[in-house]
Amino acid sequence: MVRFWFPLSRIPTGLFGLEKKKEHAPAAAGREVGPMTRRILFFWVLGCCLALGVTTLLVAVEKEGKEKEFPWDKGPDTIDVSQYPPEQQANYKAFARKCSKCHTLARAINAPYALPAEWETYIRMMQAKKRSGLDAESAKKVLSFLKYDSSLRKKDLIEKKLKGK
Ligand code: HEC
Repeated sequence: MVRFWFPLSRIPTGLFGLEKKKEHAPAAAGREVGPMTRRILFFWVLGCCLALGVTTLLVAVEKEGKEKEFPWDKGPDTIDVSQYPPEQQANYKAFARKCSKCHTLARAINAPYALPAEWETYIRMMQAKKRSGLDAESAKKVLSFLKYDSSLRKKDLIEKKLKGK
């Protein structure tokens, strides 16, 4: 039956270390293997290889953006913006929505980046990622927010960075 769509008997089972037997020889005892067993084995191995390949691929796709862990992922994942000007409160919304798509917002909030040039670089890096959903308009809002927020929350870090230069 299976033979109609795939010439199984032609599979060089010798390659797999299984001796080629006479077509209709019954499976004998001991180490000898009949043609049916050979087919089952062949499909079993093939099935395993396929399953392994597909799983590896799916895991790789799934892990994109999650595989790396950063120490700053563990910090707080919100910023209290109640005292920020209304414009920056609106930008914060864009930031919280756009920058939590692939990793927690904590990564961006607690990262040791503070200078405008650093944020420009990182936003451009995130924008370059596949399906980032970061259009120029949102990127501008996020950049504006991160610059303002860093000037308050990361004042010391900015001073340290500027001194170190
Ligand atoms: C399309 C998915 C995606 C989006 C959207 C995204 N990121 Fe990322 N981000 C990543 C990945 C993946 C990493 C891991 C490092 C890498 O591969 O570059 C990362 C890492 C980071 C890091 C740590 C980088 C480092 O090397 O220290 C920061 C900071 C960061 N993202 C900030 C942001 C900000 C801010 C936004 C919003 C503008 C954002 N991310 C939006 C995928 C994304």
